[in-house]
Amino acid sequence: MQTLALVCQKGGAGKTTLAIHLAAEAAAHGLRTLLLDLDPQASAARWADRRKPGAIDVDVTVESPARLDAALLQAEREGYDLVVLDTAPHADQAALRVARLADLVLIPVRPSILDLDAMGASLDLCALARRPAVVVLNAAPIRSRVVQEAAEAVTKLGGEVMPLVIRERVALRHSLVDGRVAREFEPGGAAAAEVTALYTQTCKRANMSTRETV
Ligand SMILES: Nc1ncnc2c1ncn2[C@@H]1O[C@H](COP(=O)(O)OP(=O)(O)OP(=O)(O)O)[C@@H](O)[C@H]1O
Ligand SMILES: [Mg+2]
Repeated sequence: MQTLALVCQKGGAGKTTLAIHLAAEAAAHGLRTLLLDLDPQASAARWADRRKPGAIDVDVTVESPARLDAALLQAEREGYDLVVLDTAPHADQAALRVARLADLVLIPVRPSILDLDAMGASLDLCALARRPAVVVLNAAPIRSRVVQEAAEAVTKLGGEVMPLVIRERVALRHSLVDGRVAREFEPGGAAAAEVTALYTQTCKRANMSTRETV
């Protein structure tokens, strides 16, 4: 079983959006996937409540970071291939705990100066947890130099940047409204393709098998 965590101390960076999309993507590729919602806001769990019958099969459970070890053991016993952890912002202790138990941490960061300024704290936390961490530039404008500048800023801080960018996409936002993901909302669309690319890169980085799409 592999464990993937979405961590960023800054609010609104895209943790929940990417956690949901990666979990659904893994499930669409045939992995038995559990999304653990560790944020008291429970946004991912509420998304799950809105899912319709026949949707891609992702199990979503609300969990407290304080009993994450037990939850992961149980998930392993239940035969999950992948657990995706969505975390709360501004929660240093909880985020550290999560990072320690993850095989790979993804840090979504918006390519804006305020987000980049705050990114160091999340990188430090992953270093403290001694876990591999990769920054995912998220909600990037389509044509702008800011993406290149943001990637340089991450590298300058000693961080690793995912070699792809998730753009600001309406499908990533609107799909969640009625409990879908981009590949269900707009199959074959640009947002769905970016999520697939992110999933593939993430698997590669975490040495996970991507499996065939079913
Ligand atoms: N790539 C994207 N394109 C368009 N909208 C996005 C994208 N990523 C995130 N959003 C939107 O930005 C807002 C914040 O995203 P999200 O809730 O995923 O962030 P978060 O890091 O989980 O926030 P919090 O810290 O509050 O948990 C949401 O309205 C979401 O729909
Ligand atoms: Mg969130």
